[in-house]
Amino acid sequence: MPKVYITGKIQDNGIELLKRKGLKVDLNLTGKDLTQEELKDIFSNYDALVTMPANKVDGELLSAASKNLKVIANYAVGFDNIDVRSAKKKGIIVCNTPGVANESVAEHTFAMIFVLNKQLKIADRFVREGKFKQWDPNAFLSHQLWGQTIGIIGLGRIGTFVGQIAYGGFRMNILYYDISRSEDFELLCEARFTDIKSLLDLSDIVTLHVPLTADTRGMISTAEFKLMKKSAILINTSRGPIVDEKALIWALKEKEIAAAGLDVYEHEPNVSAELIKMNNVILTPHTASATIETREKMSEITAKNIIDVFEGREPVGLVKT
Ligand code: GLV
Repeated sequence: MPKVYITGKIQDNGIELLKRKGLKVDLNLTGKDLTQEELKDIFSNYDALVTMPANKVDGELLSAASKNLKVIANYAVGFDNIDVRSAKKKGIIVCNTPGVANESVAEHTFAMIFVLNKQLKIADRFVREGKFKQWDPNAFLSHQLWGQTIGIIGLGRIGTFVGQIAYGGFRMNILYYDISRSEDFELLCEARFTDIKSLLDLSDIVTLHVPLTADTRGMISTAEFKLMKKSAILINTSRGPIVDEKALIWALKEKEIAAAGLDVYEHEPNVSAELIKMNNVILTPHTASATIETREKMSEITAKNIIDVFEGREPVGLVKT
């Protein structure tokens, strides 16, 4: 009977699926991330692993893997925490949970846009501090989203959803950049494909939806902030290291951009003390995909990925790189 270890507390539906198929499931119930040493021990003892985005599955950890370790099913859409090449060399299959977080992350992106565009954090504090003395026709003015331009960097599934909300909900002007064009998206959302420079130059809101790779690491840095409008809002719900955080802090301090919404951080889970002090920033703890619907789909696909491997089928979330 294959043994599966799950490194974090995932939704029950996937665990039940695994057990129903006769797999033996062990769980990390400590509520804490496992250390690399603890992970090494687990990697050397199991036939399948369910890993969390916080687990760093590097070459060193993989070298401790048991000969029987067949599959690492990452409980995430992203898989930048796994050295997929080294796993492949060892004959270990890597899987992710594609397509489960489109709605949740797109909703979170808009939640951040609303908070920043309408200065909700600051307005809330204003009321709580007893400063609301009379209706003021000039208080907390903002521009409506209707007519604003949103620039989407990365038109994968999540970026496409963001575009559909922007167009369907607010008739925003949409610019997008990706390595390939999508004529369907252009037709559906009256979107315009641009290079990154024009997108940064023309957008009121810039939102990032690219995976973290060698090409995207640090793709938004000082030069990019200089291209953006001084009134621009940056949203990052993808991966922290895509934005050079020092350059972001500089851009916010120097008012090169107006505001930022961050769900992810360059040195996660550490968050810069300077960002924490800023009022024009909204920070969430990597929870953009945290809806019950998304987590249940993640749990189900993760379990199915493992079952498919043991039953000799190609898993739906097979990472092909
Ligand atoms: C979360 O960040 C994910 O990649 O699913």
